[in-house]
Amino acid sequence: MRLSVSFGSAMAASFTVCRLHMIGRGSLAKCLQKVDTFLHRNIGTNVVAVQEEKNGFKSLYAVQAERQEQAERSVLISCHSRTNEKKFLKHMSKHGDIKKYFFYESYGMYAVVEYANQESVASLFEGTAIPSISHESLVPFKSRLLSLRSLDSADLPNQPSGKKRQAQTSIPINELIQRLAKEESIDQQITSLTEAYQLTEENCRLRFLVCSLLKDIAAAFFPECTIKPFGSSVNGFGKLGCDLDMFLDLDSISGRNATMPKSGLLLEYQMKRANSERNVTQNILSVIGECVDQFGPGCVGVQKILNARCPLVRFAHQPSGFQCDLTANNRVAMKSTELLYLYGELDPRVRHLVFTVRCWARAHSITSSIPGAWISNFSLTVMVLFFLQRRSPPIIPTLDHLRDLAGPEDKSVIEDNDCTFVSDFTKIQLESNTETLEQLLCEFFEFYAAFSFRTRSINIRKGKEQNKPEVAPLHIQNPFETTLNVSKNVNATQLDRFVALCQESSWLLQQNKTAQSGVGTKGKAITPWGLSTLLLPSQVAAIKSRKRRKWEPASERIKSLLESLKDNNNQQNKS
Ligand code: GTP
Ligand code: MG
Repeated sequence: MRLSVSFGSAMAASFTVCRLHMIGRGSLAKCLQKVDTFLHRNIGTNVVAVQEEKNGFKSLYAVQAERQEQAERSVLISCHSRTNEKKFLKHMSKHGDIKKYFFYESYGMYAVVEYANQESVASLFEGTAIPSISHESLVPFKSRLLSLRSLDSADLPNQPSGKKRQAQTSIPINELIQRLAKEESIDQQITSLTEAYQLTEENCRLRFLVCSLLKDIAAAFFPECTIKPFGSSVNGFGKLGCDLDMFLDLDSISGRNATMPKSGLLLEYQMKRANSERNVTQNILSVIGECVDQFGPGCVGVQKILNARCPLVRFAHQPSGFQCDLTANNRVAMKSTELLYLYGELDPRVRHLVFTVRCWARAHSITSSIPGAWISNFSLTVMVLFFLQRRSPPIIPTLDHLRDLAGPEDKSVIEDNDCTFVSDFTKIQLESNTETLEQLLCEFFEFYAAFSFRTRSINIRKGKEQNKPEVAPLHIQNPFETTLNVSKNVNATQLDRFVALCQESSWLLQQNKTAQSGVGTKGKAITPWGLSTLLLPSQVAAIKSRKRRKWEPASERIKSLLESLKDNNNQQNKS
């Protein structure tokens, strides 16, 4: 759907769009101080304009291309918190048709405006001023991150209403527990959890826009580069507030596949040489990282982590609230993202179960946003996929099967790793498994409560557990770099906690399969049951020793927690 904005001629133009955050060096320290708190904020966005029409199925490649193109036509504007929406739109639409726009809050009000044509962005730039600042110096780098100033004093009515401005951060866990308790079945609880936590359309757009803004910086050196999001921003399993993983793609630049003439003359680019591809990646990221740090509007807390297995530049993008990781030459991760996306699209139960397990794991600190000996979300997702391959009949096919269905156009070999799998979804025949989400969640916990982690490895390529090829508490074969273990970082204590929690959650789910009758009414807090009990704090979190817990009923502490919640709610209902 297209939104064209036109207003009467009565209103005088009074907004100036300034290029925002040309980093005043004096203010950088202040930004850095804020970054810590900032990193923990999730950004939610708000649809003010039109809803995206529902598309049929699209490959990740197609989705990315479309979103990248949208992002190129978009600008990000820091608005005065009391911006008059009508006036704002009138001002912005002077430069061309606006296709979509929305406001969101993240330490102030922001607007994303997508024009119908890229020329409109150029036109907008023509009327955009460089701010005059007396006691700081500006880095004269112009970007599509702008700020809006009102030159009129009385400019307040018709601002975006409270509802439109509300930040849609992912709801706190306690609120989620209450929300889930009101659902009528565990299946509904699982669906409701996914709806509450998944990325919104606008959040997704903002992620692509941030990539596009970053690309404008990298393009100073590599005009043909693209920056693509990967990982949970696009694989279908992203939760509001998840980090933004970006990949600087220099492989698609022209000239790599130029046809060689059989005779005659040939011109080649003269290019600087380096010792290894890793070296090239480190050098590129070092320079781009420096530019992001010195010139990138809104980019703060830049760290160059170049000696990691996968070198990266980490920073916070303040206006969006995203914690960003920029990598280069990371094509295997792009392939993993595509694979996860494909699995998520094959059957809706995949996404629901992954969301639920990820949320459950986060609630019990099985996973963490800080790197360490914890199970990562990626490993956890692979564990869910493996479990779904082990159902009878399987819900999703093995990676080997997906490879066998691949056509010549799907062939992909990256650094000697076979990353081929089918991209045409219509070739995939699914078996008719009719298990409910409730059954699957219960079985998931039982499956991993009893899994022989000591000797067996998880392998989604074969869809079968294998003997562990090396000593590690948890072994999950990397789907594409098959000699690697994606959970190499996990220590025995963390694995034990995971197993103990699976045991406990399996028991809890059996005990709390139905809502407590007669407690609470619609709209009021009621006693947690089903999935919501699994998100309550557990005693297992305190287990420190390597000793496995026996399969035993949930602790008295959990029971008393349930009771205290019930009492609380009864009191709330009375008042
Ligand atoms: P969250 O950011 O925690 O929401 O999940 P994520 O899936 O984005 O994970 P993360 O940011 O840690 O990693 C981003 C992507 O890199 C993943 O989705 C994978 O595609 C890939 N990745 C992460 N860890 C590994 C690993 O150990 N091996 C491989 N091959 N790929 C990985
Ligand atoms: Mg990520």
